[in-house]
Amino acid sequence: MKMRNNKYRKPTSLRCNAGSRCSTPVAVWALVGFLIVLQLWNLISHTNIQSKHAHHSSMIHHPLLRELQVVEEENIQMPPPRRRSPRAAKRKPKRATTLVDEFLDENSQIRHVFFPSAKMAVDPTKDNGNDSFYYYPGRVWLDTEGNPIQAHGGGILYDERSETYYWYGEYKDGPTYHAHKKGAARVDVIGVGCYSSKDLWTWKNEGIVLAAEPENEAHDLHKSNILERPKVIYNSKTAKYVMWMHIDDTNYTKASVGVATSSTPVGPFTYLHSKRPHNSDSRDMTIFKDDDNTAYIIYSSDDNSELHIGPLDKDYLDVTGVVRRVLVGQHREAPAVFKYDGTYYMITSGCTGWAPNEARAHAAESMMGNWETMGDPCVVGGNSKVFRFATFFSQGSFVVPVFGFEGLFVFMADRWNPADLRDSRYVWLPLIVGGAVDRPLDYSFGFPLWSRVSIYWHRRWRLPPQWNGNIV
Ligand SMILES: *[C@@H]1O[C@H](CO)[C@@H](O)[C@H](O)[C@H]1NC(C)=O
Ligand SMILES: *[C@@H]1O[C@H](CO)[C@@H](O)[C@H](O)[C@H]1NC(C)=O
Repeated sequence: MKMRNNKYRKPTSLRCNAGSRCSTPVAVWALVGFLIVLQLWNLISHTNIQSKHAHHSSMIHHPLLRELQVVEEENIQMPPPRRRSPRAAKRKPKRATTLVDEFLDENSQIRHVFFPSAKMAVDPTKDNGNDSFYYYPGRVWLDTEGNPIQAHGGGILYDERSETYYWYGEYKDGPTYHAHKKGAARVDVIGVGCYSSKDLWTWKNEGIVLAAEPENEAHDLHKSNILERPKVIYNSKTAKYVMWMHIDDTNYTKASVGVATSSTPVGPFTYLHSKRPHNSDSRDMTIFKDDDNTAYIIYSSDDNSELHIGPLDKDYLDVTGVVRRVLVGQHREAPAVFKYDGTYYMITSGCTGWAPNEARAHAAESMMGNWETMGDPCVVGGNSKVFRFATFFSQGSFVVPVFGFEGLFVFMADRWNPADLRDSRYVWLPLIVGGAVDRPLDYSFGFPLWSRVSIYWHRRWRLPPQWNGNIV
């Protein structure tokens, strides 16, 4: 469906036959002719793109998805400037305060906009009437025991054997502190939390399935270290659930990945080892299992300046010798990979610590292929453009396919609260693939031939009521 290697794109040099004199007008006319052919080609290719998108649109413009594609407005007003202490007032502020500054200011007057009070928590156990199954991005989300879900930086495994979803993430229910003056806000490692669900809305706490090591300071999982972004996939050959995660020390200098396995999705997982994959530093990471059971690791490397992608071995316990550097020099992290209609897509964030920044979508024809950047996938109306440029004040962690609804996915993101990391919120939104992209590719000529990836902002939304949670 995609057109590549188009002959018309590669201008063959204008050669003059030996013996014939090559006058300037001939060369000019040849150039004009070439440009006309190029224009025609553009027209034809555009028509083809449109027909491809028309085909997609007919799939995605399912009436049940239409309401998810409504562009919802968000108009956050900046609060009036606060009275500053006379000493602070003497110092000239470096720049105007932005909504991101307000977001990061735990004393902001509009704090409740970003972190609604626990009184507004989404509680699936109470009788919600018409509010059942609705996601409220940014609100506290309770599990079936009434406690806030602790699964940050997480990912979801759909377990075909039990027809159940498992959500794994960082269990951060401890005090936030700084290990030293220049250190990032942190919570000691507690472990990986696991929650199970049939409907992606009601989550039962399955406990800590990989726990921190309280005593042995030399252990990777010692509480003083870092465990981030755990992801689990199932290996049908070994019948093991395999967890990969980012393992680091307090100062993020170890930059490694860790591996653990379990024979059940709810653990306990046995920690195997950590390593620097392909002898490279590795920080934010994810793993992706393809339809042919090949699994890949994707991680930020070379001081977060690029991503590396490489297949795992057959047991999913190690990397192989094969690796590809992608998005080189683009400084992306928080990768989340998904596949639709034979194309691979990835959402990434920029690298600004706990502060939110602009997401980008990328696409490739194969995992080990050439990844191209398509632009910001976030869609929101109204005057708070920063909502779009700050990924709805969150950072992506995973993308879950919604079985039975072509092109529909759930984008999972974390709204980090660096003042109290355990109170970081979840932002889940519908992600829909389809339509033409709105921005030319960064490094090639013209618009990409991929479909657009859109993440639609909603204050309140739910999956189509007809969805039954399972593979159809
Ligand atoms: C639920 O929806 C029904 C039908 O739309 C409506 O009549 C009813 O008032 C709603 N109930 C609540 C609690 O919103
Ligand atoms: C982390 O960095 C700080 C400041 O540079 C240093 O004092 C501390 O010892 C380092 N900690 C580790 C575990 O390397």
